[in-house]
Amino acid sequence: MGADNENVLVGVIGGSGLYHLDNLTLLKTVNPETPWGFPSSPIAICVLPSGTKVAFLARHGAGHAIPPSAVPARANIAALKALGVRAILAFSAVGSLREELAPGDFVLPDQIIDRTKGVRPASFFEGTSVVAHAAFGDPFSGKLIAWLEERARRVVEAAEEGGADPARTTKPKLHTGKTIVCMEGPQFSTRAESRMYRQWGGDIINMSVLPEAKLAREAELGYALMATVTDYDSWREGESAVTAAEVFKTLHANAALSRQVAATVLEELNGAAAHGDLLTEEIGSMQYSIMPRS
Ligand code: ADE
Repeated sequence: MGADNENVLVGVIGGSGLYHLDNLTLLKTVNPETPWGFPSSPIAICVLPSGTKVAFLARHGAGHAIPPSAVPARANIAALKALGVRAILAFSAVGSLREELAPGDFVLPDQIIDRTKGVRPASFFEGTSVVAHAAFGDPFSGKLIAWLEERARRVVEAAEEGGADPARTTKPKLHTGKTIVCMEGPQFSTRAESRMYRQWGGDIINMSVLPEAKLAREAELGYALMATVTDYDSWREGESAVTAAEVFKTLHANAALSRQVAATVLEELNGAAAHGDLLTEEIGSMQYSIMPRS
């Protein structure tokens, strides 16, 4: 399977509202079975006009039928790795925990607070006789984020005023250096929880970045998250708390810009050779993670 798709170095995991990308020619669809089962959806192997090949996977399934707690994250990461992918660009809708991160903005976070409840299998080593502790102090791939920031900023800042929110009078922005809280769901947070996450230093919140980011690290794959802000969660005094309808309305309004951002960054991510170790920065990261047996 890997040899056949040798040049598919980039994996894309599409979140809510991003079920396909523009500007891609479909080469074929594959549905590899892994030791952890099948991925969320068949994987579309596509080529961009620049010649970049990408493997696209819809995190919640083709018809958004898989809730966050049931996403087969191990199968998703293992299937992308088996195709030869070296780095993953994941997309996700997020709530904002800060006034300055407005609906319609984009965020490339660099830290995570884990508020999942331990029900999601979060390691490839679970159930094996190997004890491994991946380094996860920097949960996203730094070089990949820096590279993405430069490209994504150009597209986001060239966008029309208003972005996703017609009532908004400022242009959409791209933010970096932020912390994402990953909660279990499927219900949204209470107002008290939302206020607590702000005190903890959380900037944005979703239900999907974990265990995806942990598994990518265990698989030694580069991983970055391009988050789209859809709502202000539930912390704002006197404002209504987030609803799914609000999330989907903002996602819909922002879909064209999200796809444009994705198409631009992927278009330029033209093969590992041109970008040094951009796609390979995590290779070898597990070297000292496996506990020796006495
Ligand atoms: N995804 C989008 N908005 C969210 C929110 N407010 N909380 C959790 N996940 C989200």
